Amino acid sequence: MHEITTALGPDRPGEIPFARPDIDEDDISAVVNVIRSGWITTGPETREFERSFAGRVGAKHAIALSSATAALHLALDAVGLRAGDEVIVPTFTFTACAEVVRYFDATPVLVDVEPDTLCVDPAAARAAVTARTRALMAVHLGGHLADMDPLTKIADAHGLSLIEDAAHGLPGSYKGRAVGTIGRLAAFSFYATKTITTGEGGMLVTDDAECAERARIMSLHGMSKDAWKRYTGSGTWRYDVVAPGFKYNMTDIQAALGLSQLAKCDRMWQRRAVIAVRYSRAFGEISELEVPVTRPEVVHSWHLYVLRLHLHRLDVDRDAFIEELRALGIHASVHFIPIHTFTYYRETYGYPDSAFPVACAEFQRVLSLPIYSGMTDIEVDRVIEAVSGVVSGHRA
Ligand SMILES: Cc1ncc(COP(=O)(O)O)c(C=O)c1O
Repeated sequence: MHEITTALGPDRPGEIPFARPDIDEDDISAVVNVIRSGWITTGPETREFERSFAGRVGAKHAIALSSATAALHLALDAVGLRAGDEVIVPTFTFTACAEVVRYFDATPVLVDVEPDTLCVDPAAARAAVTARTRALMAVHLGGHLADMDPLTKIADAHGLSLIEDAAHGLPGSYKGRAVGTIGRLAAFSFYATKTITTGEGGMLVTDDAECAERARIMSLHGMSKDAWKRYTGSGTWRYDVVAPGFKYNMTDIQAALGLSQLAKCDRMWQRRAVIAVRYSRAFGEISELEVPVTRPEVVHSWHLYVLRLHLHRLDVDRDAFIEELRALGIHASVHFIPIHTFTYYRETYGYPDSAFPVACAEFQRVLSLPIYSGMTDIEVDRVIEAVSGVVSGHRA
């Protein structure tokens, strides 16, 4: 199930939802202006959003889409994935990452993650490469970038396409390089809970002109180049179809919100970073808790604040911990249920838990706390108090 039920949580007075989009009057008037303009689907706002986004991360091409799932799908299409190929995907991520590989009748080869960052383990990825491997997906879990140097080396050595799942990553970086500019292609998400939102939406980013061209065509039914112009004064009714594509284009309503959100991306990030520091100061003092790491070469986007429980020091499990927080009006979530444990993947591939010791152990003890720019200091304090209180009541 998508995050919507647990992620956004109920909007009840006195409760702190897991996520809340930061929508201000500028966002609202940007959207209203587009609606009033009479041009509501893909058009000038979408092109402007693409230009601004590409400029912001420093990529040559950006294609605005209906979701990050669509962006991952088009990324795999652009690198020429075929039935029977393999794509290396960490098991500790959202199900979309494996699902898009199945769209091609290709195989998602699931691998374990690193214990500190929970991002794909380069050693596990290297060990998973076969003659059929075509791509490697680097998921920047929670907004901490995966270890891109060794992953790039593996991709280069074996001729694989390195695809960044940057759904959580904006505006993070790795060794001074912006998220989404390190792999061959990258997919960003603008889902309601993400670091900038368009309600639903995504962006595919690449420096590879051929991939960009293919993705743009496939995003709109496989219609030949610039078909979208047929909707504008500069186009005609005539178009050709060069491949059986998809309907993944972004609307101008979404793009207007995206542009307005992008303009305050840094301000929103700064607030989340302050909240992360406050959480880590408070929870770093509590021996039953483990706070998230940020490696020195990484700027964390703080999409998620993933706290871990030292379960042997507590007499509750993670699920009960979350329930106690909920009773106190604090809505936490879990990222992620390892993909190999889902019925479909278990029945299709039969991966044993023992193949993913880190993901399985960490899944038992992770919880994601509310962290969003609209949180007040009082709300942050309430989360700290609630978490500390639950720990105090359950020391083993
Ligand atoms: C890591 C990751 N990748 C991809 C996606 C898919 O994003 P979207 O909902 O925009 O399709 C998500 C969504 O939550 C995600 O968490």
